[in-house]
Amino acid sequence: MRLVHTVSELKEVLAEVRTERSIGFVPTMGALHKGHLSLIERCQQDGNFTVVSIFVNPLQFSSEADYEGYPRTLGVDARLLTDASVDVLFAPSAAEVFPKEQSFPEIDPGVVGERFEGEFRPGHFAGMLKVVSRLLDIVVPDGAYFGEKDAQQVALVTQMVDAQVHSGRREPMSVMVCPTIRSEQGLALSSRNLRLSGAELESATELYGALVAGSKAGKQSAEIVEAAKAALSPAIRLEYLELVDASSFEIVERIPSGGARLIIAAWVGDVRLIDNLLIGGSK
Ligand code: PAF
Repeated sequence: MRLVHTVSELKEVLAEVRTERSIGFVPTMGALHKGHLSLIERCQQDGNFTVVSIFVNPLQFSSEADYEGYPRTLGVDARLLTDASVDVLFAPSAAEVFPKEQSFPEIDPGVVGERFEGEFRPGHFAGMLKVVSRLLDIVVPDGAYFGEKDAQQVALVTQMVDAQVHSGRREPMSVMVCPTIRSEQGLALSSRNLRLSGAELESATELYGALVAGSKAGKQSAEIVEAAKAALSPAIRLEYLELVDASSFEIVERIPSGGARLIIAAWVGDVRLIDNLLIGGSK
């Protein structure tokens, strides 16, 4: 694996590869786990030259403390990526991604970005889209790989890429969505889980338990949400738990024929977790 820190070196490496191979890109903020490795595996299975980025993007954190507290484990991550036979690890500094002498457009997340995560984490989606757009401009991949755990992020990235391709601002590329990877107890893998104590890890499995309970409760939103909430103990401080349309994230009254997403965000101790489950429909 080649470790690259600068945009110019990355572009040089990719210019040579691009003539012969498709390029697959897995953007991450590091603290890698099996969820990230599953995205990499899928990217490789698709036959791509695989580029992984590790960049803790300051623009998508709502507080300095959250940004500073985000786990940074570059040495361990680099070893994992070498073992996973990744072709290039791009680990740039903030000055390399957003050099002061250049300006980068703000990207409006629109109405989908105002709901749920957008409401509870103001500015998060605008910051996330800005960095994803910038990284896609640097890597120019044929496909970029994202995890379904961050369902609203995936919806917004897909919306942004579609609009950019449609306007001619970006070459056609695919946004690939890969299934959430869970612990044996059902907890969705997340870099934030590293900050949970043993007892909190156990409580955190209730999030998935609630989604499953909801998914078995019928077709109406009210009964689904009620059953899901009933499966949560007081250790879980709920921010939202709703049944929504899978692409607009608008609340739905009942599961439509194509299915709906049951979404949850909650605090366990001082760690905020999100999860979701697609229910009903053909899947
Ligand atoms: O999902 C993440 O880890 C981040 O939001 C991403 C896509 C790497 C952008 O910083």
